[in-house]
Amino acid sequence: MKALVLSGGKGTRLRPLTFTCAKQLIPVANKPILGYVLDQVKATNIKKVGIITAPETGQFVKDYVSDGSAWSLNVTYIPQEPLGLAHAVKTARRFLGQDSFVMCLGDNVTGQGLNSFVKKFKAEGLDALIILKEVENPSSFGIAQLDEQGNIVRLVEKPKIPMGNLAIIGTYLFSNKVHQAIERIKPSWRGELEITDAIQEMINMGFKVKAEILNSWWLDTGKKDDILSANAKILDEFIQRDIKGTVTNSTIDGRVKVDLDAKIVNSTVRGPCIIGKNVLIENSFIGPYTSVGDGSKIFNSNLEYCVIQEDVVIKDVERIEDSLIGKNAKVTRNPRSRTIKLHMGDFSEVEV
Ligand code: G1P
Repeated sequence: MKALVLSGGKGTRLRPLTFTCAKQLIPVANKPILGYVLDQVKATNIKKVGIITAPETGQFVKDYVSDGSAWSLNVTYIPQEPLGLAHAVKTARRFLGQDSFVMCLGDNVTGQGLNSFVKKFKAEGLDALIILKEVENPSSFGIAQLDEQGNIVRLVEKPKIPMGNLAIIGTYLFSNKVHQAIERIKPSWRGELEITDAIQEMINMGFKVKAEILNSWWLDTGKKDDILSANAKILDEFIQRDIKGTVTNSTIDGRVKVDLDAKIVNSTVRGPCIIGKNVLIENSFIGPYTSVGDGSKIFNSNLEYCVIQEDVVIKDVERIEDSLIGKNAKVTRNPRSRTIKLHMGDFSEVEV
């Protein structure tokens, strides 16, 4: 069995961060989301992994994953124009050969890992296994309608009038029969070859397709608020108290990870939180569910429920909440003026 990890796409909903970074590389708890996906692939013992990349951001993905040896994986990069998930499978046809494979979207994380799905797929000799989770906004996803026994009745990509609220999450398992189905489907209204249509076609062709309901959390980190929720979830589940940096005249409450060479001075940090390497925090309060990326500096400010990427400077800001701040950004306040002065990139968002 092989793995196909999709790390392409344009990331339009996460601009401006995605002008200089692939959406799959946005960090949660100071580690790119793609890193969690590769951890889960590694845990299955699959060794051969194809990573689909986009022309604009492929190099960033390569810089991070390199040859995959950090995960003991053997990685092949497959460039693709973003023309849909089924198109990505088509593009990876030569890499996949006749093997079955697990396909993971590089910006989707679950709390359940992949092993139980691989086991079921193999034990039942399936041609496709899809994983479902209830959502509140079914028109934004591929949706599955099941009968009373849990068999799939119908699959529809982003239905205008939803026939249920079970979304198809970004983890799929396929036998090589998926390629026959992909050859038969046509692009959707958004001009993409949809994997949902390919799986429906597999059902029409009489192949063995099953669905399973996910029994953990699932986060699709396509938008700012999703990144903040994923950050909170991962901090909550994985962060243990571990103080490596220096703490002077400060209070560190609960599960807080302070990396090497970080300095916390005259401040309070309340977990779950992660403070990266070489971070400086002075006269500040860092509230729960905050990640501060390597090299950032925070002075005289209060933060809560934030993802602060690397080398950010925040100074004299009374309170920042629910915020996602990209690399090398600067947020300061001039105590002598009430005027707001902005120097913002395209597609930035500010709420004052
Ligand atoms: C894609 C799939 C959709 C699935 C979703 C999961 O949507 O097309 O069926 O439910 O991923 O994240 P997209 O991210 O392309 O809008």
